[in-house]
Amino acid sequence: MSEAIIPHDQLRDFVEGILSALAVAPAKARLVAETLVAANLRAVDSHGVQLLPFYVDQIECGRMNPHAQGRVVSESGACLVYDGENGVGQFIAELCSDHAVRLCREHGLGMVVARESNHFGAAAWWGQRISAHGMVGIVQCNASPMVAPWQGCDPRYGTNPLCVAVPSNGAGAWLLDMASTTVAMGRIYKAFVNREATIPPGWAMDGEGVPTVETETALNGLLMPLGGYKGSGLAMMAEILCGVLGGGAVSTELGGLRIKTAPFRVSQMFLAIDVARFIEPEQFQARMEKLVTMVKSSRPAQGHQEVLVAGDPEWRAEAGRLRGGIPVPENLWTSLGEIARRLGVAIPALG
Ligand SMILES: NC(=O)c1ccc[n+]([C@@H]2O[C@H](COP(=O)([O-])OP(=O)(O)OC[C@H]3O[C@@H](n4cnc5c(N)ncnc54)[C@H](O)[C@@H]3O)[C@@H](O)[C@H]2O)c1
Repeated sequence: MSEAIIPHDQLRDFVEGILSALAVAPAKARLVAETLVAANLRAVDSHGVQLLPFYVDQIECGRMNPHAQGRVVSESGACLVYDGENGVGQFIAELCSDHAVRLCREHGLGMVVARESNHFGAAAWWGQRISAHGMVGIVQCNASPMVAPWQGCDPRYGTNPLCVAVPSNGAGAWLLDMASTTVAMGRIYKAFVNREATIPPGWAMDGEGVPTVETETALNGLLMPLGGYKGSGLAMMAEILCGVLGGGAVSTELGGLRIKTAPFRVSQMFLAIDVARFIEPEQFQARMEKLVTMVKSSRPAQGHQEVLVAGDPEWRAEAGRLRGGIPVPENLWTSLGEIARRLGVAIPALG
């Protein structure tokens, strides 16, 4: 077996069972399981169940407090600051997205910054939670330092992602969700888990800033900022809008999933923009559809069959994996099985 194929609902229940066995409250366990498996469904495996062993370790070692509820620090007009008090990242992100939606309904815009949070998985889940209300959802977070600033070779930024989600009735859909590095760290970790000795050029550097294609060197080295100094700029934007603005940890003050000595201390930003305050929602839909059609009307470049827009690869993957199940690499399935056995959780039988 090189990989196990698990139906998404069984995988979700399995993840939920593991978290419940660690005394995570049922609603939180369900939410984390749903978000991780949703990422797998979209083939964003770097942010799927591969994260679970790290979350388990954080809880078992006391670096994350699954019982913390967090608190509103301040609310002023359309702006809210939340202290996650080192609780479950997805739980904090859900509360904060919902606050952003509430403020947006009232003011036309709503912006929430959470500090002292934990990893919230793929940003797309939260952008979509906002866009489901007819709002543009913009989400960023800072992350564990593993990216050197441009022209440097010491880790100062995280992979600080940016997600922009727009409301859509299907046609004209667009969902951007990207790390500010060439790839998310999870992609390199996935290559490592899959025992792939090399990764594509342009993904990573060694600890001295020398580009590398060796997976293990990359894992212990530095990620490449997306587009050189421009990716550094995007990462800095996330540090400012999340960490600086929210009074939270920035840059080297953050811990990380793989750092066993300190809590994560990540900050996250959730911005909701009410489309209807600018343009009739029907017109917005029609104009999005027109824009996407115009973009896709470009002739495909040599070696390509078609032009895509952000979100297309993931929606296609989702349609396939909903039908055919989620592939989980053998190594990961083994380590999830070990955790489950240790916690007395039933392991789904492979079909
Ligand atoms: N929580 C965290 O700390 C954290 C940190 C970094 C990244 N992430 C997550 O990592 C995930 C993966 O990020 P990534 O940068 O590796 O993603 P990626 O490079 O696979 O995709 C980035 C974006 O490009 C779009 N895209 C892909 N192929 C395309 C094409 N041919 N044409 C047009 N658009 C295309 C995708 O739809 C997506 O919106 C994201 O979900 C992100 O939120 C999370």
